[in-house]
Amino acid sequence: MNKITQSAAWQKLNKHQQQMAKVAMRDLFNDDPERFSKYSLEAADLFLDYSKNRITQETFDLLCELPDNRDLASHIEAMFSGQIINTTEQRAVLHTALRNPDETSKPEVLETRNKMLASAEAIRHGKWKGFSGLAITDVVNIGIGGSDLGPAMVTQALKPYQAGNIKLHFVSNVDGTHIWETLKELNPATTLFIIASKTFTTQETLCNANTAKEWLEQKAQTANASEQHLIAVTAQPERAQEFGIKTEHIYPFWDWVGGRYSLWSAIGLAIAIAIGADKFREFLAGAHAMDDHFRHAPWNQNMPVILALLGIWNSNFFNHKTQVVLPYDQYLELLPAYLQQLDMESNGKRVDVDGSPLDTSTAPIIWGSVGTNGQHAFHQLLLQGTQKAPADFIMPLNSQNPIGQHHMLLFANCLAQSQAMMQGKTEAEATEELLSQGMAAEAAAQLAPHKVIPGNVPNNTILVNKITPATLGALIALYEHKVFVQGTIWGINPFDQWGVELGKQLAKNIIPGLQDSVKSKQFDSSTCGLIKKYFQNN
Ligand code: F6P
Repeated sequence: MNKITQSAAWQKLNKHQQQMAKVAMRDLFNDDPERFSKYSLEAADLFLDYSKNRITQETFDLLCELPDNRDLASHIEAMFSGQIINTTEQRAVLHTALRNPDETSKPEVLETRNKMLASAEAIRHGKWKGFSGLAITDVVNIGIGGSDLGPAMVTQALKPYQAGNIKLHFVSNVDGTHIWETLKELNPATTLFIIASKTFTTQETLCNANTAKEWLEQKAQTANASEQHLIAVTAQPERAQEFGIKTEHIYPFWDWVGGRYSLWSAIGLAIAIAIGADKFREFLAGAHAMDDHFRHAPWNQNMPVILALLGIWNSNFFNHKTQVVLPYDQYLELLPAYLQQLDMESNGKRVDVDGSPLDTSTAPIIWGSVGTNGQHAFHQLLLQGTQKAPADFIMPLNSQNPIGQHHMLLFANCLAQSQAMMQGKTEAEATEELLSQGMAAEAAAQLAPHKVIPGNVPNNTILVNKITPATLGALIALYEHKVFVQGTIWGINPFDQWGVELGKQLAKNIIPGLQDSVKSKQFDSSTCGLIKKYFQNN
């Protein structure tokens, strides 16, 4: 595949960056009072302010040449039309079909969605009975990665919409503490487990699922008690049957749904149980609205494309290697972790679709936490560190819990941090501030250099009127498509994840070494030495 770095657009951007490196964003704002309106747009009920980026109209026009240099339009249509674009696994990529209201698009999608939503409603309305005849009160989703992060994040984000009395729990880690701390509070007679696993081979999930099954059977003291308390969501129904799940309790999805793109499928069962069928359909519709926008908006008015291009401008041309996600909304606390897998497992790649090593960097390191908490943890580095981290601020204009001054203060802090990253504080400003506070000139001269904030750190602000099922669906789809656009421009396959296989293989080799000290001699001295410590202390 031809390297995007050889394209005319990339070459022009390389040259242009040398100019832009000398430009301060605060000057761009001072020179153009219309900057905010020029570099902001609405789509699918989301508002994006991207004016705090190191761009001029020339920059933006050059960036908007990249998609055509990579024929992005054809790649988009190839994805939506179900072509085999996940080439290393020979699969289509059709998570967008899961939220397509055109019911004829894939009948198996509609059938499974309706079955899943009907079950969710039955559970919510006490119609699903356990082995003792009691209704379900608690649902435990057992899964990891895409079989956990999406359902957990969405369930928490939409907590205000969780009418009903079912309590949702998420167990993912193979560390026994995770399932132990969950089960110790629960009544087996009223607890339902969703075993969520696309492959139904994931070690952590199967270990937790077996523990859950044993817990049920131990407590129930009746044969097959667990049958009524186990649901499987998987692309491998026969493996779920072998595990002992009743056929009618197995909800399938398909190999053309990537794990980190699967929350729209029956992997979203926990979400549907939490918020109900109607709100789950609103969630799907919000994502579909973003799909529509993505497929039809011109590049320079296309929100996922703009986010993708700005990310490339920041990481490939300004060499910013991380990207921080700052949701100023406590219900979105799990969003950074979800976006980590979506972005880093999709684009954390080093070769292109042909297997040739790339000559440019790919996915940045995604990290972050809720605002305002991050301000008291890592914003010092964001503002005065030697490494810059472009930021995405995400903020609802309306709180789900409008108490006193809280939301106004949250919003003020969100805007202040975005402004601080952009405009910083010069030494002259710092000195003047200290002098105005009555500090002696000599002391002020000594302290001022420590108070300088270089600024010029690019950041986007995404506003939404309120986080609802629909706007959350649109927000997630926005990031899915941003990741797809970046992967396409870099020339990589965002939909496989071969990198995770080695760890799984090595763990399988080490396990016998932890069960039999003789077998532990076959490893490098570090692994052998650490295994020895394990034997000495277990
Ligand atoms: O992290 C590797 C991975 O395969 C992810 O892509 C996936 O979401 C996760 O493990 C869980 O896989 P499964 O849903 O098959 O259990």
